[in-house]
Amino acid sequence: MSNESINWDKLGFDYIKTDKRYLSVFRNGEWDNGTLTEDNVLHISEGSTALHYGQQCFEGMKAYRCKDGSINLFRPDQNAARMQRSCDRLLMPRVPTEQFIDACKQVVKANERFIPPYGKGALYLRPFVIGTGDNIGVRTAPEFIFSIFAIPVGSYFKGGMTPHKFLISDYDRAAPQGTGAAKVGGNYAASLQPGYEAKKAGFADCIYLDPLTHSKIEEVGSANFFGITANNEFVTPKSASVLPGITRLSLMELAESRLGLKVIEGDVEINNLARFVEAGACGTAAVITPIGGIQYNGKLHVFHSETEVGPVTRKLYDELTGIQSGDVEGPAGWIVKVA
Ligand code: PLP
Ligand code: COI
Repeated sequence: MSNESINWDKLGFDYIKTDKRYLSVFRNGEWDNGTLTEDNVLHISEGSTALHYGQQCFEGMKAYRCKDGSINLFRPDQNAARMQRSCDRLLMPRVPTEQFIDACKQVVKANERFIPPYGKGALYLRPFVIGTGDNIGVRTAPEFIFSIFAIPVGSYFKGGMTPHKFLISDYDRAAPQGTGAAKVGGNYAASLQPGYEAKKAGFADCIYLDPLTHSKIEEVGSANFFGITANNEFVTPKSASVLPGITRLSLMELAESRLGLKVIEGDVEINNLARFVEAGACGTAAVITPIGGIQYNGKLHVFHSETEVGPVTRKLYDELTGIQSGDVEGPAGWIVKVA
């Protein structure tokens, strides 16, 4: 695809084949040096554990074009570390942080013409590790692939920074001691049907409750939850089955250090939503998506407004996106320059 045919003002979150992707193979106990390839099709054994037993994990991160033309990666060390934890959980070999970040830089440079202009979105990077090689028993794979591809993206939730409605799901995406905290495909497989049903009913996505008691908010199927109280508190769920998001972690730090909010990682009771004056979904793809309302047991609970973005959500958004695109100085180490 030529980038001349991309309408930068209309970018959503859709697959576009870009020029090059990174591919490294783990064989005989080590990762090879990795190469860039134009081929976007993987040739793997029909017995690959990734195909049968969900032995795979992935990451989501973005490269941003700055005003001065340079390119920023946002906290790639955090993505490398989370992918290592996901690999540990599914008995896959860790990709060393240095190899991970170097591969990200290679993919961004090789697809530079697909980075949206300053302020028009970002180049989304999708690193993943899959179990490959001939196998049939339920066990870890004999070989693995680590790959990263890149896609120019705009808003994940249509409309971006406008309030969206979410539906509390009756389904669970993760088990109490399961894989919810790892970024593995199985969690997303479990979310396909609930997400489809929520969207069919007119909601942006669904929100999951804790799988043990179904009384506390956990997260959106593709982003974390936060709420702002009238007492200037930033509250986000604490749970072993929630994905520890890097956007969430960053907002917790910014809420405290730059907005002077008190940060609370704790229970978010579904029956006490009235404590929040604002709420939002946050993640790499979702950025910050304001939550206008949450439907639970047939009733819509509206936060700040169904149409207007709340003032604290707006400030958090400006601070976060300002840092990512290089307009605002971020805390030390958050930005890694590609070029
Ligand atoms: N929760 C889920 C289920 C996600 O898929 C994501 C997206 O990656 C997040 C939370 C947010 O994580 P991050 O901010 O690291 O993108
Ligand atoms: C991300 O925000 O990077 C995600 O992985 C969310 C979704 C696209 C699965």
